[in-house]
Amino acid sequence: MSKDTFYVTTPIYYPNDKLHIGHTYTTTAADTIARFKELQGYEVKFLTGSDEHGQKIERAASEAGVSPKQYVDRIVDSFKELWDLLEADYDVFLRTTSAKHQQVVQHIFKKVYEQGDIYKDKYEGWYCTPCESFWLERHLEKGKCPDCQRETEWVEEESYFFKMSKYEEQLLEHIENNPEFIQPETRKKEMINFIKDGLEDLCVSRTTFDWGIPVPIDEEHVIYVWFDALSNYVTGAGYLSDEEEFNKFWPADVHIVGKDILRFHTIIWPIILMAAGLELPERVFGHGFLTVEGGKMSKSKGNVVDPVKLVEDFGVDAVRYYLMREVAFGTDGSYSTEAFIKRLNADLANDLGNLLNRTVAMVDQYFEGVVPELGPTTDYDEDLKATAQKELQAMEANMAELQFSRALENLWTFIRRTNKYIDETTPWVLAKEEDKKAELGTVLYNLLEALRIIAIALKPFLPVAPQKIWTQLGIESSIEEQSWEDALQWGLLTAGIEIQSGEPLFPRVDIEEYFANQVESEAAEEEDSEVETVEQDLISFGDFQELDLRVAEIVEAEEIAGSDKLLKLQVSLGEEQRQVVAGISNYYQPDELLGKQVLMVTNLEPAEIFGVESRGMILAASNDDEELVLTTIDREIETGSKVT
Ligand code: MSP
Repeated sequence: MSKDTFYVTTPIYYPNDKLHIGHTYTTTAADTIARFKELQGYEVKFLTGSDEHGQKIERAASEAGVSPKQYVDRIVDSFKELWDLLEADYDVFLRTTSAKHQQVVQHIFKKVYEQGDIYKDKYEGWYCTPCESFWLERHLEKGKCPDCQRETEWVEEESYFFKMSKYEEQLLEHIENNPEFIQPETRKKEMINFIKDGLEDLCVSRTTFDWGIPVPIDEEHVIYVWFDALSNYVTGAGYLSDEEEFNKFWPADVHIVGKDILRFHTIIWPIILMAAGLELPERVFGHGFLTVEGGKMSKSKGNVVDPVKLVEDFGVDAVRYYLMREVAFGTDGSYSTEAFIKRLNADLANDLGNLLNRTVAMVDQYFEGVVPELGPTTDYDEDLKATAQKELQAMEANMAELQFSRALENLWTFIRRTNKYIDETTPWVLAKEEDKKAELGTVLYNLLEALRIIAIALKPFLPVAPQKIWTQLGIESSIEEQSWEDALQWGLLTAGIEIQSGEPLFPRVDIEEYFANQVESEAAEEEDSEVETVEQDLISFGDFQELDLRVAEIVEAEEIAGSDKLLKLQVSLGEEQRQVVAGISNYYQPDELLGKQVLMVTNLEPAEIFGVESRGMILAASNDDEELVLTTIDREIETGSKVT
């Protein structure tokens, strides 16, 4: 029985920061293949989500002075906004903090423990918090994490261990018997070598922080974040919650991930599944990284490319097209705004946009906007038709291999062939001769038909333009209903319908003008921030009144073990005493705070920060983290007084 479902996933991203163009790249690829499979008639499930536990998130939250949950909630909203903007049409947004997921992770952990594949011991070794990854001494590169080149920390703690080594042979066998399992081929060898080097048992629990799913048999421990995160793919398919759905979609057809986390997906994840008695995904594809000017994107270098700005400046279609077209899927590629604009102008504005404009204008001019009948044909017509068939078949084969860029090349070969067909058949010459009306009809019919096919084939890549082309072609049935089959057939357009000429699809962007405007707006922004006239959203007086601001006196202050920034304070509000956590230890010694009267927001939701309860927030003025001073009052006043 042939399979008619398709399950594709992105990594679930860490909500410790805003997402950038690199994350957008993965999600766009997953959405594109999901849409393509849908077009082919598959029932598709597309999962994305957020990986919310672990030390990295706990630290980021404590630095921001809020609880981990409050912290991730805000960032997860921004993920969803980005995916909406990109029109990434996911079916499941999996949050690892959901109860359903917690149940799955605990169930798998317990099962594997009970069958003797998890045991308790002591972990001593290196840990990379940004990657949430354990390393052996021999793996480190000059003491740093071999994946991200950042500092690692020495960790010594009691832990549960997962017997990865037991499954080594079984995994190697699986990889050998399933040549499609790890892709691309170049990365497969790297993974095989890693396994052959010998797998150590994996530490799967932590005790030095609490932001995680508790180990079901030992509440002192939380489950190692990768064990938790990877299991998301089965939770999202319905494991333990919807058996029918799970049987329908599991195993996943493809996990799309970046090369940075291929190891977790092709070694740890399959072994967890083997131990849990579940099937392995069909394929894991580790794509390359987008770099900027040949280097890694990073906040400290200030070269992080914001997808939101790109969409605002150039539209969602152009961003998605560029991402899927510019770099072969599997290899690294460099992002540049200049290359982006060049692609937009050459491929979208010129090749595609002009084809539509010229065609529609000629149909208006020569046939009063009515789609003509197909008349006598020539070799040019046959060749155009044959090119459509050939390129669409090649496109289909490339999509099966996730070769997005090549698939778009195929489609553009057809688009360019169609433009050439105009030059070959010279409709403007035919139009001058009365007895050539039928031939002219053939040319314009074929051009419109080519555009019909192009619009359908573009659907997986561009969420906006295909509908616009459709509207201009004047076809009544919705483009939503069109299938890949409809693109493969030549001649489905009906003569006699009325086209509707419209705006150009992709206006050309002048590169120099664009950069000049950028420089100008950056300068204006800088000026604004210098004089501090940044425009703000105004709040009403009522909103302000909702804040309960009070004068508080600090009566006790102490450091929080394990944190670099936080102090635990006991404050008096007159009638009541409260505990709050404040991120001020780089600027104040505990002793100098005693007796100080400060301002405090008292009606903030309680939060747990670094395991310490915090009920309120002390106010301070800060200057981009370089300086921080507490807000105090001008003269002494009764503690607990309201600030209005
Ligand atoms: N939370 C883990 C994944 C758990 S999956 C069970 C994680 N999250 S992440 O937020 O760091 O996202 C990593 C992924 O983002 C990469 O694997 C890749 O898909 C994408 N990218 C991040 N930076 C990238 C580039 N510069 N270029 C291309 N993709 C990149 O790891």
